[in-house]
Amino acid sequence: MSYKEKVLPIIRQVREFVLPSWGVASIVNEKSIHPADVVTEIDTKVEEFLKEKLAEVYPDIEFAGEEGGGKRDMERFWLVDPIDGTGHYVRGLPFCTVMIALIEHGVVTFSAIYDFINDDMYWAEKGKGAYKNDTPIHVSNRNLQQSYLGWESKDIEKKENFSKFVEINKLGNFRSISAGWEFAMIASGKLDARISFNPWGKDWDFAPGLLLVAEAGGVSTNIGSDKYDYRNTDLIAGNPIVHKELQEMFKDYYTPQ
Ligand code: IPD
Ligand code: CA
Ligand code: CA
Repeated sequence: MSYKEKVLPIIRQVREFVLPSWGVASIVNEKSIHPADVVTEIDTKVEEFLKEKLAEVYPDIEFAGEEGGGKRDMERFWLVDPIDGTGHYVRGLPFCTVMIALIEHGVVTFSAIYDFINDDMYWAEKGKGAYKNDTPIHVSNRNLQQSYLGWESKDIEKKENFSKFVEINKLGNFRSISAGWEFAMIASGKLDARISFNPWGKDWDFAPGLLLVAEAGGVSTNIGSDKYDYRNTDLIAGNPIVHKELQEMFKDYYTPQ
């Protein structure tokens, strides 16, 4: 059986215990001063559930998660963000998902972004396309001037970041504070690209979406490169037209120390 047949039903099972706490879950930990950087008991519960269920089906594939940690030097492992958009989850906003990526020899080969509010599964397998549930999805063909552009950068006061923010702000600046949901919307042609430069987010925030966008006919790369390494969080993912224009815009960018 394929990953689609075995893994997606496991992810869908979380809806039963995640949805009832949407908008009512309590924050148990504030990880930083950023109001979106919060954790609930449900985050931990989802991660432990996925870890246990995936190990039953795939005992040879290891596991790393946002809440429980895990190394990145295994040949094959699941990389899980149990709730992406926990701040939205607590507030009852709809931009939150459960995310998973399968990393094999350093490459993302399968991924899913589960919008448990609407029960929509966005998923991709390397070389086999991207889907919303059972329907193929595709990126848009808008250009940069026409685009809705997701972005993420911390330390915006640093001049390298600020000058890029000023350029983005003249465009269709779209900031949902939910990386996974934005990637799902880019792969569906509703948003057009996302750029992360010196971001808050970590590998688990971006790995699933990078594959999803690439398999939906888009382009996912690190800034200044023609490919991506999921461990490098400076990245651009979008339709081919906007991706090219953003690479040009960021060609002089380097990550501040
Ligand atoms: C957050 C979201 C957000 C990004 C933050 C992440 P979380 O994830 O992905 O888009 O800006 O960096 O921490 O904390 O809700 O899993
Ligand atoms: Ca996240
Ligand atoms: Ca999370």
